[in-house]
Formats: sequence, structure tokens, C-alpha cells
Amino acid sequence: SEKEIAIAIDGPAAAGKSTVAKKVAKKLGYIYIDTGAMYRSLTFSVLNNQIDINNSELVIKHLHDITIDINANQQVFINHEDVTDAIRTEEVTKNVSAIASISEVRQEMVNRQQKLAEKRAVVMDGRDIGTQVIPDAEVKVFLVASVEERAERRHTENIQKGFPSDLGQIKHDIEKRDKMDSEREVSPLKKAADAIEIDTTSLSVDEVAKKILSLVNTKMRG
Ligand code: CDP
Ligand code: CDP
Repeated sequence: SEKEIAIAIDGPAAAGKSTVAKKVAKKLGYIYIDTGAMYRSLTFSVLNNQIDINNSELVIKHLHDITIDINANQQVFINHEDVTDAIRTEEVTKNVSAIASISEVRQEMVNRQQKLAEKRAVVMDGRDIGTQVIPDAEVKVFLVASVEERAERRHTENIQKGFPSDLGQIKHDIEKRDKMDSEREVSPLKKAADAIEIDTTSLSVDEVAKKILSLVNTKMRG
């Protein structure tokens, strides 16, 4: 039978990581793991329990008190309670990069993520998958797109969902989050030396998925 591999997809906000990762996973019959949902879950839970987000000791302690599970339908659960929609609010989005910059939080998240990837046959997306979580992933991809295009994509998503949306605000928030994610001291957003960079600015989701699947095919044959 075919060799089962790990596929790491990293890149800045709204580059298309999760959309493309889901497609690739489906095509291969692999599981898809959204590591951003794990950082979002902790952030939601910290805010919801009125824990001071600047008190890293309390934040870390809280992480040890909760389970975060993501099922095959991408529903997210904290201590078995469904938080799928709750982790996507603007408030969580605004605070997640601060929580994700705490070194012990990252250590624990990386441990949990490595356990999920142990058996291979995974597509995992995030910011540090190719550099920290699965440094020996057989396929590593770094997705980029202009900030204008990425803001447009989020804006379009909001409009389709019937949510209020301000393109300028989205662009501002994306730039701020990218800056924090790229400049933090612990495992910043960074292209792994052996990752293939794909500029998706003028590509469709299907075109990006196709490019990744062709990298996968080459690895599996080799
Ligand atoms: O909004 P978007 O889908 O781009 O973000 P996400 O993938 O849900 O990730 C939310 C935030 O979690 C990021 O902005 C990072 O601060 C953090 N994150 C991280 O630090 N490391 C990861 N492997 C994944 C996410
Ligand atoms: O996970 P990440 O934050 O990197 O991006 P996402 O949540 O997958 O959102 C990307 C949005 O842009 C989705 O609405 C996609 O349909 C759209 N898109 C894309 O992902 N890739 C393209 N090449 C073109 C559009």
C-alpha cells in the first residue's frame, strides 16, 4: 500500500491554509488538524473564565485544566462543550496572538499536536508546523498571498455569512496579527528552510490544492 506521510502547511492569516488543507486531507483520506483552533480555544476559555490574559502562569495552569478536542467534522470542544462558533469571534481573534506568544503554552500545544500527528496520515496547518511540530514532515508548504488579497478573502467570507464587515479594519487586524506572530520570540511564523513556498494571490483553492497534491505524489512515489 501507499506510504502514509505528514503534510505541514504554514503561513500568515487568511492565506488559505485551512481551506486548502481540508481539501488535500479529504482527497488523501487523511485527518486534518487545525492547530489555530487549539490556540483559539485556549484564548476563548481564558476570556470566558475572566482570567487575566497577561498572567501567563494562570493561563498555563488553565490550559492544563482543559481538554481541547476537534472531531472529523471540525467541531471544536473544550471539556466536551461545543465551542466551534465561539472561538471565531473578533474578541478571540484580537487576543489569540498574545496567548500564542507564551512559551509554556506553545510547549504544551506542541506536545498535544505531536501526539495527534504520531501515526502520520495527517495534514496539519498553523504557523510552526514545519519548523517545530513536525520538523520531519515529508511535505512542507508555506502559503503566502498579498495582504490586500487576504483581507478581501476574509471580507468576502463575512459578507457571504451575512456578518458585518469592514475591509480596512480586517486588513489592519491581519497586519497586526501577522506582525505579532512573526516577531514573537518562541517559534515565530517562519518558512521552514525546506518548505515549498506557494504564492496563492492569483490562484484558486483548487489550483493550490492541486499543487500540494502533486508534491505529495512525488513524495509517495519516491
Ligand atoms: O485566522 P486564521 O485562520 O489565520 O488563524 P488561525 O490559524 O486560526 O490561528 C490563530 C492564531 O493562533 C494565529 O494568529 C497565531 O497567533 C496562533 N497560532 C500559532 O501561534 N501557532 C499555530 N501553529 C497556529 C496558530
Ligand atoms: O486558514 P487560513 O487563515 O490561512 O485561511 P482560510 O481560513 O482557509 O481562508 C481563506 C479564504 O480565502 C477562504 O474563504 C477561501 O475560500 C479563500 N481562498 C483560498 O483559501 N485560497 C485561494 N487560493 C483563494 C481563495
